[in-house]
Amino acid sequence: MKKIAILSGAGISAESGIKTFRDSDGLWENYRVEEVATIDAWYRNPDLMTDFYNARRAELEHAKPNDAHLLVAKLEEHFEVTVITQNIDNLHEQAGSSNIIHLHGEATKACSENGKRFVQDIGYRPIGYDEKTPDGARMRPFIVWFGEDVPRLSDGAHAVEQCDILIIIGTSLNVYPAAGLLYYAPSHCQIYVIDPKEVQPISRDVHFIKKKATEGMRELYDMLCSQ
Ligand code: APR
Repeated sequence: MKKIAILSGAGISAESGIKTFRDSDGLWENYRVEEVATIDAWYRNPDLMTDFYNARRAELEHAKPNDAHLLVAKLEEHFEVTVITQNIDNLHEQAGSSNIIHLHGEATKACSENGKRFVQDIGYRPIGYDEKTPDGARMRPFIVWFGEDVPRLSDGAHAVEQCDILIIIGTSLNVYPAAGLLYYAPSHCQIYVIDPKEVQPISRDVHFIKKKATEGMRELYDMLCSQ
C-alpha cells in the first residue's frame, strides 16, 4: 500500500466553524500571540491563558468534522495514512482517522505546568485557576506554545520521510518547525497543497489546488483513488 502523509492546519477546520489564526477574521486579529500563546506569557499571566484555552475548548464542544476531515479518514481504505496536524481540535479523531500526530498539543487535554507531566483527558470542561496535578503543580492546557519544544516533531518527520504522497492542507506554512516538515519528503514524493489562498513559497515542485478544504480534498480524493 502506498503511504500518504497529511500535514493539516487551521484551514481544514475552518468549514467546521473554527477560526484560523492568520486570516482576516482569524484569532490573531483579536488576541496578541505574545499574550496567549507563548511560554513566557503563561508564567506572566496564567489566568488569562487559562481563560483563553477554556474558551477554545468550549468552542470545540459542538464542532463536527467536515467533508475534508472525513475524506482524509476515508483515504485509509486505499492508503496507509498518517495525519500530522498543527490543530489542537479533535476533528480528525471524530472523522475516524486512526493515526494522528498532534504537533501542537490537544485542546481536550491538560497537564502539569512543570514538565508537562500527568497528561489527562479533560473533555470540554474548563480548567480552574486553582487546579493542581498530582505533583501539586498548577494544571495547564496541553498545548505547545511558542518558545517550547515540539516533542512529536520527529514522529512527523519520520512519517513524511516515508511517504509517497504528501498532502498539505489549510496551513499558511508560517510556523516552524512544523512548516519545515515538507522538506523531509523524499524526491519521488508527490506533494499537493490545498488552500484557497497563496501559501508561503515552497522550494519544491508541488501541485497546487487553490480551493477550500472540502472541495479541494474531494477533487484530490477522486483523483488519487481512481489511479
Ligand atoms: N480551506 C482550506 N484552507 C483554508 C480555508 C478553507 N476553508 N480557510 C482558510 N484556509 C487557509 C488560509 O488561507 C491559510 O493559508 O488556512 C491557512 C490557515 O493559516 P494559519 O491561520 O496561519 O493557521 P496554521 O497554518 O494552522 O497556523 C500554524 O500557528 O499560531 C499557531 O499554533 C498555531 O498551529 C497554529 C500554527
